Amino acid sequence: MRCSQAIINLSNLKKNFSNIRKKVHPAKVMAVVKADAYGHGVIEVVNALNSLEDKPEYYAVALLDEAVQLRENGIIQPILVFDTIANSDVTDYFRYNLIPTIFTDSDIKSLISAKRKYNYKQNICVHIKVDTGMNRLGVNHNDAFDFIRKVSMNDNFIIDGIYTHFATSDVYNSCFAKLQLKRFNQLITRLKDKNIATGLIHLANSGAIINMPDSYFDMVRPGISLYGYYPSQSTNESIELFPVMSIISKVASVKKIKKGDTVSYSRKFKATKPTKIVSVSFGYADGYSRGMTNKGSAIINEKIFKQVGVVTMDRIMFDIGNADINVGDEVILLGKSKKHEISGWDWCNVLKTIPYEITCSISKRVPRIYVD
Ligand SMILES: Cc1ncc(COP(=O)(O)O)c(C=O)c1O
Repeated sequence: MRCSQAIINLSNLKKNFSNIRKKVHPAKVMAVVKADAYGHGVIEVVNALNSLEDKPEYYAVALLDEAVQLRENGIIQPILVFDTIANSDVTDYFRYNLIPTIFTDSDIKSLISAKRKYNYKQNICVHIKVDTGMNRLGVNHNDAFDFIRKVSMNDNFIIDGIYTHFATSDVYNSCFAKLQLKRFNQLITRLKDKNIATGLIHLANSGAIINMPDSYFDMVRPGISLYGYYPSQSTNESIELFPVMSIISKVASVKKIKKGDTVSYSRKFKATKPTKIVSVSFGYADGYSRGMTNKGSAIINEKIFKQVGVVTMDRIMFDIGNADINVGDEVILLGKSKKHEISGWDWCNVLKTIPYEITCSISKRVPRIYVD
């Protein structure tokens, strides 16, 4: 097996889930496991969460195919698909007992026509998405009452849930998140006043779970926090979280270079004194962005070394000075040693991104090794 590996710490995943569970009690939890559980490996992640006594009540994925994959692997909880149903084979929702997100008249029509055409007997269990300000998906909050009432009066449907999504819940004290919450609250109050069954009300993603306890309602939808990261560095950090993924490798080669010698393509690193360069079998094809060039770091034998030279497709180099380091020594690219840590945020700060993109970008050719 390849020596460059993503170590997935399932006990950290379970600790994160339990900490979220405690924080939001008595709300239910819909674990967001889209994009292969944010790059961690969806089947292993879901199986680990399902091994808990207080396992998630629901799962959510972005794509219909992701939901089908969970069903085909024996996952029995309700699964919500965030994607639009337009352009999908809606029969899969019936065949695999999956929950579609709906918010247009044409969604209603397509589901009813598939139900009739294939003579499906069951009612169609749906979650209705309301747009309270994200302006991506969902029925506008001003039109939502009429749409929801229409669905509730149609015998083909069961409204199992109503949800919206925050645009800025990861910003501490965000006025806009409060405005979204207010719009959503007004809608829910109006529906309740008219005795329209809403099913489960949910909107809190990780940022809101951390910052906005008044947004929990019946269920919360954590994604990045399950995997051990706060959604931004300006959140309140009210839950203890442990990163689930680390990236390790081994020193693949050691070479001496002279003052003035350069390293890698385009000669972007020039040695100012004689030094030693180690190479590691990890590159941009593995998810180590070229943007890390001359800015990354690694822990080798409890010391931190700078990444030097352009990041190549399969290999990166580190300047180790005259340290006593040999082929085969462990290299930590992301994660903790006894004394040091390179966190996802260190990568993010170089790349001007968020931990979501870091873990999702670790490519499939990096073997995931699961430890518990
Ligand atoms: C609709 C929806 N809900 C919940 C989440 C989870 O968000 P987070 O990973 O910030 O917790 C996402 C992720 O983007 C989402 O798209």
